[in-house]
Amino acid sequence: MAKQKTALVTGANKGIGLEIARELAERGFHVFLSARKRDAGLKAAAMVQKQGAKADFVELDVSDPASVKRAAKEVAAAADHLDVLVNNAGMHEDGDGDVLTTDPKLVRETIETNALGPLRVTQAFWPLLAKSDAGRIINVSSGVGALHDMESYAPAYSISKTALNAVTRQSAAALKSKGVAVNSVTPGWVRTDMGGTGAPRSVQEGADSVVWLATEAPKDLTGQFVQDRRVIPW
Ligand SMILES: NC(=O)c1ccc[n+]([C@@H]2O[C@H](COP(=O)([O-])OP(=O)(O)OC[C@H]3O[C@@H](n4cnc5c(N)ncnc54)[C@H](OP(=O)(O)O)[C@@H]3O)[C@@H](O)[C@H]2O)c1
Repeated sequence: MAKQKTALVTGANKGIGLEIARELAERGFHVFLSARKRDAGLKAAAMVQKQGAKADFVELDVSDPASVKRAAKEVAAAADHLDVLVNNAGMHEDGDGDVLTTDPKLVRETIETNALGPLRVTQAFWPLLAKSDAGRIINVSSGVGALHDMESYAPAYSISKTALNAVTRQSAAALKSKGVAVNSVTPGWVRTDMGGTGAPRSVQEGADSVVWLATEAPKDLTGQFVQDRRVIPW
């Protein structure tokens, strides 16, 4: 009998993360749907379970090392391997200022969640991922983190996503010999609480490349930045 596929998604109580969790569950994954807010996470997991899928809520705040460790223990007790880790949780609180006026405290907080969060979640979960036949980590980044055409928009957020892309490259190199593929994805501008109602893309469009990397993408695709199922420049 084929092994039950397993996935963990961070920040899965709403937006793109919830859609990724829903779609992976629909494709037969046992999904560990994680969120920092218990009530919102339980509600989201119940919604996915209602569709007949296997989903469990795990409390996980990516900015809190103790919370990440607890979550890794909880998942390791419930599953003997992890096939897919989606580092989706993120924050974006820049105002209209540029890098000359931005508050360094905000830059630090944003890096803490958007880059160090995925780093510590990867560190905590890779032993379980290494037990998969084809482990995959997908870091949900942003086009504004690309250095080649970066301008003055949202410095804290942009800097944090560039740092996340470096986490992707470092993780891909470190995990290559363990058979775990690691990539960054930009979902495009998506209608969520973060993207706002004027964004052109649906959550399904935003989730598409992540779900593709989790399920169908060539296994040797690693250490890349992906948009709409294509490799783009960093
Ligand atoms: N929407 C866009 O246009 C767009 C574009 C490019 C990239 N992205 C990226 O896509 C990802 C998902 O964003 P979204 O648009 O779906 O935004 P969203 O609806 O605001 O969702 C963000 C999620 O991240 C969670 N989160 C924030 N800080 C967290 C922490 N410390 N620990 C755990 N969870 C935390 C939020 O939880 P709470 O509900 O508790 O706050 C929420 O579940 C983010 O990484 C974002 O940067 C989005």
